[in-house]
Formats: sequence, structure tokens, C-alpha cells
Amino acid sequence: MLTFTHLTLPAPRLTLRPLHPDDAPAVYAMHADPVTLRYWSTPPWADPKLADELISRDMQAMAEGDYLRLGLQRQSDGRLIGLCTLFAFYLPSRRCEIGYILAREHWGQGYMHEALDALLDYGFAVLNLNRVEADIDPRNEGSQRTLARLGFVQEGHLRERWIVAGEVSDTHLYGLLRRDWLARRADAGAAPGGAAPQQG
Ligand SMILES: CC(C)(COP(=O)(O)OP(=O)(O)OC[C@H]1O[C@@H](n2cnc3c(N)ncnc32)[C@H](O)[C@@H]1OP(=O)(O)O)[C@@H](O)C(=O)NCCC(=O)NCCS
Repeated sequence: MLTFTHLTLPAPRLTLRPLHPDDAPAVYAMHADPVTLRYWSTPPWADPKLADELISRDMQAMAEGDYLRLGLQRQSDGRLIGLCTLFAFYLPSRRCEIGYILAREHWGQGYMHEALDALLDYGFAVLNLNRVEADIDPRNEGSQRTLARLGFVQEGHLRERWIVAGEVSDTHLYGLLRRDWLARRADAGAAPGGAAPQQG
């Protein structure tokens, strides 16, 4: 059975690793910020218990391989600054979705690019995915830039896909194919799976 409980992935300035109960304050703080959650699928959090619940859910789901969520731990100071997730696996078609969040004070420094680069390498090289999808709010320009830099292509516009706290919003659906990722890796002169995952 696939299990992600002990998975860590290296990135230049980060270590990607599963969450543990001590991460609850950092997880809560990023989800309680209304600017960070502006285009999220839920309203900003108002109860710190939601972080404990997310971490408990993760521990079980990661053990069972249901989804893969890793925290972005900054190497320089050990701080947990964000999260990235591969979820909604549909393995007969070797596809899943990707999600990500970074605490606002760390935006604009390339951290999420590093994290998703390592996560996607793992997804394509180790999990043998063929396609990764991202569902984002068309108004989320920062997220669009993050996806475009990684080679994602906007493939669709889905109308009124979300209703969050009474606000109706559309989706821009982005896709990244395995062959696009391999071509990007070849152009960059790096082999896929360059990040050395550690799985106990
Ligand atoms: C979307 C989000 C994850 C982007 O995080 P980020 O770390 O700023 O994203 P990137 O790693 O792609 O950052 C690249 C930015 O840093 C800059 N940068 C600075 N140093 C860099 C470096 N060494 N390498 C790469 N980019 C660097 C880039 O120029 C770029 O700036 P730009 O966005 O103004 O073009 C973050 O804004 C966020 O969490 N938003 C709220 C949650 C959200 O909307 N999530 C997505 C929902 S699906």
C-alpha cells in the first residue's frame, strides 16, 4: 500500500515533510489570514481547533496514501511557512490535483516554486503520474504566475464552480502533463527525480 507517513523531499532552501501536532499554530495562522484565504475554497478560519483537526486527518490519510500533504519547513530557521498537497488521486488515469498555501510574510521569494518543483518531481518520477491539475480562482494572479512558471497550461474556464460564504466564483482549470514536465526538465538539463526523496 502507498504510504506517505515518513516522506521528506529536499528543496534548495526548504525541507518538505509531513505535519505533526506541534505545527498547529503555524497552520492556523496561515489559514486565519483573510488575504491569504481570499481565493481559497473556505472562508478564513476562526477556530484554532481546525488546525488540530487538519493535522489529525493528515496523519491518517498520509498513512493510508489517500492524499499527500507536506509542510514547507525553512532550513535556515526551522519555521513551517506553508503547505503543498497532491490530492484527488485517480490512479487508473494516473492523475491528481495540486494545492498550496504560503504564509503571507513569505510571498514573492520563490519558496512555493521550489516546493512545487520538488513535489511535482516526486509525483511524476516516483508516483508515475501522467497529469496534475490545479483549480484556481481566475482572480488569483499570484497563483496563476506560480503555475505558469512551472509549465502548467490553462485549459478550461468552469463557470460558478464555487460558492464560498455566499460568494460565487469561477474556476480556471490548469493542467501539467508528464511529457511537458520531462521536456522542461530536459531543457533545464536536469533529470526528473533529481530530488532524493527519503521514505522510511
Ligand atoms: C500563490 C502563492 C502560493 C505564491 O507563493 P510564492 O512563494 O510567492 O510563489 P512563487 O514561488 O511562484 O514566487 C515567485 C515570486 O517570487 C519572486 N521571487 C523572488 N525570488 C525568487 C527566487 N529565488 N525564485 C523564484 N522566484 C522568486 C518571483 O519574481 C515571483 O514574483 P511574482 O509572483 O511577483 O512574479 C502565495 O501567494 C499564496 O499562498 N497565496 C494564497 C493561497 C493561494 O491562493 N493558494 C493557491 C490556491 S489554489
